[in-house]
Amino acid sequence: MPLPPRAQIVGTGMFVPPDVYTNKDLEKMMDTSDEWIQQRSGIRERRYAKAGIGPSDLAFEASKSALAMAGLKSSDIDMIVFATLSPDYYFPGSGAFLQDHLGCGTIPAIDIRNQCSGFVYGLNVAQAFIASGLYKRVLLVGAECHSRALNFTTAGRDVSVLFGDGAGALVLVPSDDPERGVMSVHLHAEGAHRDLLKLETPAARNWPMVSKEDLDAGRQYPKMDGRNVFKHAVTRMPEVVREALTHNKLSADDVDLYLFHQANMRINEAVMKNLDQPITKSHNNMDRYGNCSAASIPMCLDEAVRGGRVKANDVVCMTAFGAGFMWGSALVRW
Ligand code: ACO
Repeated sequence: MPLPPRAQIVGTGMFVPPDVYTNKDLEKMMDTSDEWIQQRSGIRERRYAKAGIGPSDLAFEASKSALAMAGLKSSDIDMIVFATLSPDYYFPGSGAFLQDHLGCGTIPAIDIRNQCSGFVYGLNVAQAFIASGLYKRVLLVGAECHSRALNFTTAGRDVSVLFGDGAGALVLVPSDDPERGVMSVHLHAEGAHRDLLKLETPAARNWPMVSKEDLDAGRQYPKMDGRNVFKHAVTRMPEVVREALTHNKLSADDVDLYLFHQANMRINEAVMKNLDQPITKSHNNMDRYGNCSAASIPMCLDEAVRGGRVKANDVVCMTAFGAGFMWGSALVRW
């Protein structure tokens, strides 16, 4: 029996809306400071999309770049996997919007709702589709318009200063070379912690889904126990990286580039320290874009690829942690 093919990334793309909001801009809206934000998170600025623009519009631009790098047309794609926690509509999913924007016939499109780990969960889905032979040219995107659900008053400052809008996209095809492509994806979830980071309305648990009382209580905005999220992230991320390295009989030194979810630079520094790796072996962009959840890793990957940081046969390690809690890692031989 031949081994199932690995999924190879043949195109990457990213897109961020043009409007930049610096920490100084946020100082005008709430009681915060550039110093507090930079010191606690490493974030200097982020982008917010204008009203009327949804994550699928950002994903459309990122997808065009990824398709161009892959040398493919949108009609060549046979499956769309769309990871987002801030979908265009409650339903249908953002995959339906992107499929229509791209004009790729009646190909299927699925949404992945796994927050900041949405990209690694989506990568596992794309990899499994390709390994099974069900689909051969998969477009995987992560896209967010977080700005819509942020509380830009002092009451929401612990969360609102951290997030931004953006999109990243990948094109995956079966690899001709059995050594190259996605080597493994390891995923985990611990739903017992679902209340530590959440946006609870609109919610199908409630009737009505959103009440005046909900709005008055600010339940339309995310709530986060930042310290607890931080504590779990710095434990789970190195743990799941080690799981991937052990599975592939590699050491942390064998990895050429580390790409992390872009929540907080202190988290990423702690993970690299735990792995005994220099921070220079990672690529980060949260200083410019903040936390773009499902889009953060594919945006970093696109910058790294276009910046010449990834060469053929390099081992790239990606890892994410977020609401749920959910977390995961992926190893790719480029
Ligand atoms: N500006 C100024 N002061 C602030 C702000 C702000 N934007 N936000 C909070 N503060 C204040 C707090 O009120 C608190 O004041 P107090 O001591 O008078 O009560 C003080 O700053 C310290 O707050 P802490 O919560 O102790 O700050 P901490 O050092 O923990 O940093 C942070 C907060 C940055 C949120 C950190 O905990 C963190 O990064 N956590 C992880 C977040 C994360 O990883 N999220 C990823 C998942 S996202 C997803 O899945 C969708």
